Amino acid sequence: MQKPSKPSAIDQSQRARLSTDPYKGVRDFYPEDQFIQRYLFEHMERVCELFGYEEYNASVLEPAELYRSKTSAEIVNDQTYTFTDRGDREVTLRPEMTPTFARMVAARSREIPLPARWYTIANVFRYERPQKGRLREHWQLNADIVGVAGIEADAEIIAMAHAIMRSMGAEERDFEIRVSDRRILDAMYDSAGIDIDTRSDVTRLLDRRAKLEDFDTQLAAVVGGTEKAQALISEIERTTSTAYLEELRVALEHMGVTNMIVDTKITRGFDYYTGMVFEVFDTSPENRRSLFGGGRYDNLLTLFGGDSIPAVGFGMGDVTARDFLEAHNLLPAYAPASELMICIVEPEATSHATRLAQDLRREDVTVAVNYSGKRLGDQIRQAEKMKVPFVIAVGAKERDSGRYTIKNLATGNETVLTADRISEHLFSSLG
Ligand code: HAM
Repeated sequence: MQKPSKPSAIDQSQRARLSTDPYKGVRDFYPEDQFIQRYLFEHMERVCELFGYEEYNASVLEPAELYRSKTSAEIVNDQTYTFTDRGDREVTLRPEMTPTFARMVAARSREIPLPARWYTIANVFRYERPQKGRLREHWQLNADIVGVAGIEADAEIIAMAHAIMRSMGAEERDFEIRVSDRRILDAMYDSAGIDIDTRSDVTRLLDRRAKLEDFDTQLAAVVGGTEKAQALISEIERTTSTAYLEELRVALEHMGVTNMIVDTKITRGFDYYTGMVFEVFDTSPENRRSLFGGGRYDNLLTLFGGDSIPAVGFGMGDVTARDFLEAHNLLPAYAPASELMICIVEPEATSHATRLAQDLRREDVTVAVNYSGKRLGDQIRQAEKMKVPFVIAVGAKERDSGRYTIKNLATGNETVLTADRISEHLFSSLG
């Protein structure tokens, strides 16, 4: 019998080499990326809390039927990651938070004091064709208020979206808030004679209008003829605003929000919206894109068998938010976790260096000790590369004298101090 041939060197190396790429359409967050994520999240959280919203969370796994019912549009249903678990249950990775939010509120609707204001920053999954601004996993701030049917809640939700943009450095001229109302759409469908059964398909088509080259043809196919399609388009063009939206504009102006415009072409893709809908757009000519949006959905909670409870909210994605900040030069400069690196000049000083680090951490200084054993110059270059602002070199001299030279790597300035003065010096220089 022939011995099996040994795998060649090429086979072996091919077998050993696993790809370092992440799964298609999802991202790895290296420290510089995570730094920006955290910046975004901190601004989102801060604004939500300024408006009295409380944080909640849930699992990424939901029973698939949550999305098969009327909670989500087909858009999202077609794009779900769904699998059967070992117990034969159909499970979906959440494609959005609104059904989860509705489920959680409905589960305790008797106990939760209304109005309730909740927010979360959650990762959601959609099987989409990855492209600029669209990925298969993204993080989404969701802020929703339940229990207020009036215009104040619509205004509050939009004012929060506005406040987040402002808090990240955007001027009002950098973005605009385009608002419409599903009730306008219903009225237009009535007068154009659009069939009740086709309305949600038409709405989704209108939502994608700007992205479709053959919009007119598709619309005609859905509504049942070019004449009806034309009637609908001219209805949309004719309708400029409503008393409700003008009242909303006034309410927003009272809150200092003056970049709202009425745009009856805004429809949003989900079936559950019942009233005000909005989308925030970048105004820069090279990036006239929708950044995020939301709206009112007063009937969603009835799916869970309870009474209808009015609700309104929005979802703001991290991908488009980050692209916006980048396009407008608003991304923060990276700052590493460590304010200080302690370099070890000779191995005998190691325990002294670790002890100094512990003392400084107790005073709230973020410190990394360099254990590389490399030459001092290389250690300092590493600190520079990592953008650590300060270094201290610790050798026998420092150990014996108790005096340390703190170097500011940006200015080159050096200051000699005893251990008890270091934290004060760092904090005053870092501002
Ligand atoms: P949505 O418009 O589907 O709404 O998503 C909200 C935002 O999430 C989008 O405007 C965009 O910023 C981001 N986003 C959506 N899909 C992707 C993707 N594939 N890649 C990157 N970013 C994406 C909702 O999900 C509603 N549930 C929001 C809501 C909350 N309405 C009321 N309350």
